[in-house]
Amino acid sequence: MSDPSGGPATRHTDPVLAHAPGDTRTAMAAFATGPLHVDADRFLAALRGLAQIGGDPQGGITRLGLSAEEGRAREFLQDLAEKAGLTSDIDPAGNLLIRRQDADPHRPVVLFGSHLDTVRQGGWLDGAYGVAAALEALTVLVETGATIDGFEPVAVGFANEEGALVQYPFWGSRAMAGSLDADSEKIVDREGRPAWEHLLSAGGEPERLAEAVWPAGRIAAFLELHIEQGPVLERLGLDIGVVDGIVGRTIFTCEVRGEQQHAGTTPMRDRRDALVSAAQLVARVESLATTLDACSTATVGYLDVSPNTVNTIPGLVRLNAEIRDTDAARIQVGERLLGSMAEHVAQASGVEIDLRVSDRSTPVRTDIGLRSVIANAASSLGLSWQAMPSGAGHDAQIIAARAPIGMIFVPSKGGVSHSPVEDTEERALVAGADVLATTLAALLGGGPVRRFNALPGDEARGLLIDCLGCDGPWIDVVLARRPYWTARSVVTAVCSAVAAAEHSLVIAAANARARAGDTRTSLSPESDLEETRKELVTIACRRLEGWLGA
Ligand code: GLV
Ligand code: MN
Ligand code: MN
Repeated sequence: MSDPSGGPATRHTDPVLAHAPGDTRTAMAAFATGPLHVDADRFLAALRGLAQIGGDPQGGITRLGLSAEEGRAREFLQDLAEKAGLTSDIDPAGNLLIRRQDADPHRPVVLFGSHLDTVRQGGWLDGAYGVAAALEALTVLVETGATIDGFEPVAVGFANEEGALVQYPFWGSRAMAGSLDADSEKIVDREGRPAWEHLLSAGGEPERLAEAVWPAGRIAAFLELHIEQGPVLERLGLDIGVVDGIVGRTIFTCEVRGEQQHAGTTPMRDRRDALVSAAQLVARVESLATTLDACSTATVGYLDVSPNTVNTIPGLVRLNAEIRDTDAARIQVGERLLGSMAEHVAQASGVEIDLRVSDRSTPVRTDIGLRSVIANAASSLGLSWQAMPSGAGHDAQIIAARAPIGMIFVPSKGGVSHSPVEDTEERALVAGADVLATTLAALLGGGPVRRFNALPGDEARGLLIDCLGCDGPWIDVVLARRPYWTARSVVTAVCSAVAAAEHSLVIAAANARARAGDTRTSLSPESDLEETRKELVTIACRRLEGWLGA
């Protein structure tokens, strides 16, 4: 796509993805199905239809999580799903789920989608893009009769990812992953109205929230297609971002309590101005990510000044701050620093500052196997791509606690998001949806890796023993990580499990084999331990690659 004349796309690769052994064969094994294209007109019409829901008179879209508008967006997509011959339902947390008519309820699910809510005066693509594309991709998989082998594809539209109305981001994905705050009564909007009341009026079922949890192992993989929301892809002229990690975030709620007083009669030295102290704190928050470089971003995006009149010294300021980084340790440092900064400002200015952590999400890595399937999908469509981190939070990072995740980015015009001017070229939107559909076709189709995943435990164990020539606890480590998405991820898992295994076990097995005249390796009891282990890993990988890539 980067070269409309049809010449080869510039390929920016991730060294990890590009140079690992078995890459070519992996690509072939994963792509028995070939590239898949969505119906561009139908997809863009759905996306534009969604953008009509929650239009804000002041600009942009205000379709807040757990609001009636979010409910209307679900209904709109349910209608489209029905027209496409799919079935849909809404779980007790307000998540929209779309399935095939003849969906097999016993298969592990490949789940894909994003969220349906927006921030206040947000854009038309953040979240909605990934959900509309998920519906389109599922429609195309069914229409084209793509092989669906072993996993059940399910599209999802999560509720309240942003936390703009009810201050609790990732509501829907947390409900699904079983990580919703047990004390959900305490989750409220800024007026103190509980989330369950909002959920009830938006058609959810607060009393059945526990039923929204998907049991461990039910999700085989989760994929989220999203706009980048930053400038990287556009600046580099790339079509697709293969997300390798998602930032973690800590959100703080803060109250600065000073003294409300007359602005004309109170001498400057007698004041305890809550807004002046809050302003000092705001500047210190920024310094966490600038001069101090403690974390990658630090923001105060919400400030409520009371009483907020021109001739009164503010007595109370409520604010929210948030810090983000891909490294959990740096976020911890940022949290501690902000705590001591708040104490310092309070002591120096005589106000009270109550700073609390109101939400934490941890940084996560995406699954290397899924990354490589996505990258292969982009390449097979002639699209350029690069691995990159996500500075925005996503439902995928919540589902990561339950399943391997993968994320696909498309460029954002001007890098702008959470704004009415958020936009992406139509052809880029369609290209991202094509990558999603092609990735799904690869994950759902048959092939040697799928066969390995589907093998009963004892047969898979037998295969691994045969490949390496010795038994051991490393096999359980490898099997526990199923399903795998590429031959290379199986091989990598075997290599690392064997590398972590007891040397003595590996050596004993190798020597027993050598004594029994096994000619696969010429190990002797005198062999160097490290060399022996390396040799065993090489033999195992070669054999596994042969089996999986055949
Ligand atoms: C989600 O949109 C975020 O704030 O990162
Ligand atoms: Mn957002
Ligand atoms: Mn989003």
